Amino acid sequence: MSAADISTLRRYLNEEIADGYAVYYDHERSITQFFDWYHARRTAGWPLLVAERDGEVAGFGTYGLFRPWSGFRPTVEHMLVVGREHRRLHVGSELLEALTTHARAEGRHSMIGVIDSEDDASLDMHTAMEFREVGRLPEIGRRDGVWRTHVLMQRIL
Ligand SMILES: CC(C)(COP(=O)(O)OP(=O)(O)OC[C@H]1O[C@@H](n2cnc3c(N)ncnc32)[C@H](O)[C@@H]1OP(=O)(O)O)[C@@H](O)C(=O)NCCC(=O)NCCS
Repeated sequence: MSAADISTLRRYLNEEIADGYAVYYDHERSITQFFDWYHARRTAGWPLLVAERDGEVAGFGTYGLFRPWSGFRPTVEHMLVVGREHRRLHVGSELLEALTTHARAEGRHSMIGVIDSEDDASLDMHTAMEFREVGRLPEIGRRDGVWRTHVLMQRIL
């Protein structure tokens, strides 16, 4: 992937940081921070899948351990971001399906999405992709001074 493509993915992430529900950072990610994160995931061997539309990167998805202890290796937590101009074109569901296929091929048993309770697009997409709500985490984080509740959605692979 080119540096320009990585920069485009950074823009998609930063748009969510600015006013989305999915990613809670106080500040947008700098080029250095995003490149470091991207290369660290690659080096650690985690998948970082990218979807393209009309020759442009349209979104990305990745996963990592759900909990950092060896007994939890069968379960991974994923995240994905689709560029706003590419939404509702099945980019997100394509990425999520590819992540589940990758996880199953690695011998993982389940995938977890941790989703803001007001993120209707993500909740609906996960429901459409055979994820089921298995729990809620009230007041687990803060965004713009407001407590946020998250929904745990799981798919057994
Ligand atoms: C959630 C997100 C990944 C969905 O990506 P997308 O490419 O727009 O989703 P898709 O086109 O694949 O949608 C698949 C299905 O999900 C549901 N869905 C997706 N977006 C929806 C919305 N805004 N409202 C209602 N349902 C929605 C629909 O059932 C849709 O199928 P349909 O279009 O045939 O009706 C995207 O909105 C996004 O990047 N959001 C910000 C980051 C985020 O929330 N990430 C998930 C956290 S793990």
